[in-house]
Amino acid sequence: MPEIPPSVRALVADASGPATTLDLRTLPAAELGEGDVGIAVSWSGVNYKDGLASRKDGRVARIDPLVPGVDLAGTVVEPDGSGLRAGQPVLAHGYDLGVAHHGGYAEYARVPAGWVVPLPAGLSERQAMTLGTAGFTAALSVLALEEHGLAPGDGDVLVTGATGGVGSVAVSILAGRGHRVTAVTGKPDAGDWLRALGAAEVVDRAAVGDPSRPLQRERWAGAVDCVGGEMLAAVLASLRYGAAVAASGNTGGTGLPTTVFPFILRGASLLGIDSVQCPIERRREVWTRLAGDLRPPALDDLATDEVGLDGVPGALERVLAGGARGRTLVRVR
Ligand SMILES: NC(=O)c1ccc[n+]([C@@H]2O[C@H](COP(=O)([O-])OP(=O)(O)OC[C@H]3O[C@@H](n4cnc5c(N)ncnc54)[C@H](OP(=O)(O)O)[C@@H]3O)[C@@H](O)[C@H]2O)c1
Repeated sequence: MPEIPPSVRALVADASGPATTLDLRTLPAAELGEGDVGIAVSWSGVNYKDGLASRKDGRVARIDPLVPGVDLAGTVVEPDGSGLRAGQPVLAHGYDLGVAHHGGYAEYARVPAGWVVPLPAGLSERQAMTLGTAGFTAALSVLALEEHGLAPGDGDVLVTGATGGVGSVAVSILAGRGHRVTAVTGKPDAGDWLRALGAAEVVDRAAVGDPSRPLQRERWAGAVDCVGGEMLAAVLASLRYGAAVAASGNTGGTGLPTTVFPFILRGASLLGIDSVQCPIERRREVWTRLAGDLRPPALDDLATDEVGLDGVPGALERVLAGGARGRTLVRVR
């Protein structure tokens, strides 16, 4: 198994000019960053946060220049006392990866051992990145709802931003576990695809409710929301008594124009979901379950596009414009 070579091909975001540029460059391996473990990266993914990390107004990148890519899968080439072995398939995501430490859009990565998840049996490196940060976040969301008490047969579970990465994986995981899923989308032509993933119903964003009404008809036994803003307010107002929404994102806004009424009159719960700082023990356990009881039945249908490093800038534009459907994979080598 080769070690990291002296120079590495990488997609670099450079914010030194008036706007951030994204270019393929050759980086000296010494600039890959601190870490015990060298990884030959095979696959990465395209996430909303990767789009933000490649723009000045995204306010996500904390080093300049930066190799974006908040998730990666590959094989260990330099285990360096980490307990991992050369040739072992692994994945990593979150922590500082792709925001304050060079990420997955490079042929090799060097990361702290405490960020590394051994690839669970039953998942290929490509399938791990089909799930990626988005799929892991969807799994955390489903677990949070079930740990709060949601069980199959309780009623409709709403998934917002349903065609995106977090949303589409959540639809498939929930359906696979026997929940009846209502998928919310702004894409009028996405109904058949969402039903194929397991949604029982597909509704337009506007049908979720009027965000200005603090309480609405009790409809949802639970909800996975990655949109935030007025959508999250409308979801809170229409949860059934005692139900919860797992909130992870802000593609629809960072504000939350709600009132206390869903909480004090309906016992609603707002469950915050964070994949970035999720402790490594929990992270490894959830990934093992993603290869097992949380595995989305539609896993291979969730990868809708595949690009090389040179195709990443266009894919990042699409994800920022809300045009994502499923997961775009990045074939790094
Ligand atoms: N908390 C965490 O740890 C964590 C982890 C991963 C992601 N996130 C966050 O979760 C969100 C989704 O991430 P992702 O990777 O799934 O992104 P994505 O693939 O771009 O999906 C987001 C989806 O949101 C919907 N959407 C976009 N703009 C919208 C708007 N203005 N109003 C309502 N809906 C809108 C679209 O779905 P439809 O067209 O189907 O409606 C879009 O496909 C992002 O905010 C991301 O930063 C958080």
